[in-house]
Amino acid sequence: MLIPPLEWSARWLSSRQAASGKGRILLRRFAGPEAYVDRMSPLRIAHVTDMHVGRVTPHSVQREAVALTNAQHPDLVVITGDFVCHSQLYLDQLTEIIRSFHAPVIGVLGNHDYWAGADEVRLALERSGALVLRNQHTTVTMRHQRLQIVGVDDAYTGHARREEAVKGLRKDIPVLALSHIAEEADGLWRHGVPLVLSGHTHGGQVTLARLHEIVAGKIAGHKYVHGLYGCRAGRQAEGAVYVGAGIGAAVIPLRLGERGKREITVFELGARPGAFEEHHSEQPALRGRKPTRETIAKRNAQVARKRARRARRRTIELELP
Ligand SMILES: [Fe+2]
Repeated sequence: MLIPPLEWSARWLSSRQAASGKGRILLRRFAGPEAYVDRMSPLRIAHVTDMHVGRVTPHSVQREAVALTNAQHPDLVVITGDFVCHSQLYLDQLTEIIRSFHAPVIGVLGNHDYWAGADEVRLALERSGALVLRNQHTTVTMRHQRLQIVGVDDAYTGHARREEAVKGLRKDIPVLALSHIAEEADGLWRHGVPLVLSGHTHGGQVTLARLHEIVAGKIAGHKYVHGLYGCRAGRQAEGAVYVGAGIGAAVIPLRLGERGKREITVFELGARPGAFEEHHSEQPALRGRKPTRETIAKRNAQVARKRARRARRRTIELELP
């Protein structure tokens, strides 16, 4: 069987990484912001992002991510978008993977989900029992404690409606937000959200010589590239945001440098920062550069073009004898 070059290189790289021990998923652990302390006894939230279920990321990596997450015994699993790569071919596999988490799963969509078909990805997730928030919020009860979860839809493709997502939030119940694009945090903090969990950048994937800060920061214009930013102290106007490096990849599974490795992050909400050793503390944001309205409109049009192309293909298939 002839293996396409992309798939061949993906397999070769993943086998090389496995052989060298570099294919392992890192587990990072952080305390939540102080705003949660005294408002709850610790809740354990596992953050997984950018799974990119498809041919580039080996199925064994997805299984490993689920096993590592389950081993932490989280109260809740949150997934911040890019569930798939480019197509709907692996939606059944996605449903099966998400169903394997032992804790309830809540997620938001990312740009790749929009490119592949947002409604179809959402349905695949809902078949697994997961809840997908699209500019909405919900309240979950864990260990007799309530937590509001805000889900902002994908900002990269112009689907984020932050004001809609936070409308009706209660001040007397702690809140956590999810957004594929981390820069949405700036606006969410103003609504009293102390912590936002995000993805999208894959930590830059290649982080040697701080290359990720050049590529994802200077070139792509992200303020938040990987890890923890903002402020967890006190009840400040500015909250915190965490950008997970994620599990998968959309093009090539190359991940070089410690910050770019596949990652699952556990947040202990209600624990005080400094209560245990953490990988790093809050980092200063990069300068960043907001995408222009024209850029967002172009990305939005790209989603519409892909949707129309899928609809045309379906029509042609139906018309065939
Ligand atoms: Fe991604």
